[in-house]
Amino acid sequence: MTNMVALITGANKGIGFATARQLGGLGMTVLVGARDAERGRAAQQELRDGGVDAVFVPLDVTDAGSVAAAAKLVEAEYGRLDVLVNNAGIVLADGARGLPSETTVATLRRLYETNVFGVVTVTNALLPLLRRAPAARIVNVSSEVGSIAVMTDPNGALFELTSVPYPSSKAALNMLTAMYAKELRDTPIKVNAANPGYCATDLNGNGGFRTAEQGAEVSVRLATLPADGPSGLLWGFQMDAGGGYGVLPW
Ligand SMILES: NC(=O)c1ccc[n+]([C@@H]2O[C@H](COP(=O)([O-])OP(=O)(O)OC[C@H]3O[C@@H](n4cnc5c(N)ncnc54)[C@H](OP(=O)(O)O)[C@@H]3O)[C@@H](O)[C@H]2O)c1
Repeated sequence: MTNMVALITGANKGIGFATARQLGGLGMTVLVGARDAERGRAAQQELRDGGVDAVFVPLDVTDAGSVAAAAKLVEAEYGRLDVLVNNAGIVLADGARGLPSETTVATLRRLYETNVFGVVTVTNALLPLLRRAPAARIVNVSSEVGSIAVMTDPNGALFELTSVPYPSSKAALNMLTAMYAKELRDTPIKVNAANPGYCATDLNGNGGFRTAEQGAEVSVRLATLPADGPSGLLWGFQMDAGGGYGVLPW
């Protein structure tokens, strides 16, 4: 799997960094998308020290100019993109639990700028380059908390969670995934949503019971799907099914 080029957003730490390391380990050139130059260069260096062909790309997914500049850079240097991992994400909530009745529109707007609108901005800017690759893969890093079926299952592990901002942003991301997959169904491009499972990263105060490397495995599997692999799925860690990997309900 040499000569493939992968762009990962939010790749300077957490699951995105681990995804860059693993895709780099497969021989891909990894473009380390990061909004902060110092953090991006530090990640680039750490990956290179580990033998990965890593290149820092300045990329703030909420800044259309930054996204356009990144796309221009990828086109100029590589002429195409084989893998896009929309990994950058944030958590915000009003009050301790993010209850619907306590949620402000201002919080939703800020959160959606990154978790939802950012994905559309990045994907649409890179799609012309993804179309130029022989068989591109798009991975949207989502979550089981974005599954309406999982969140409303009275027998499921997440039934007690009643938060609106982050889960609804991932529910929107799930729909984006399904619709991009449908639009692109007659192309070699596959679009899937990844569920990394609850991983210990800065996103959750390092409280998760899985590692970032384990979470990244899910993105890597979807980024390297064979030609007969699926498109338009939410796939990954299945808490309610005992911890294996598989398809999750929307
Ligand atoms: N950890 C979990 O349990 C878990 C579970 C399910 C899904 N996820 C998803 O996995 C993805 C990665 O999260 P993580 O757990 O690895 O969290 P993390 O360690 O906090 O990493 C998030 C990354 O996103 C970047 N980012 C945030 N806003 C950005 C922006 N506007 N433009 C570009 N990059 C931006 C951050 O950059 P800075 O360093 O500059 O802030 C950081 O590199 C997210 O989409 C998250 O929702 C995580």
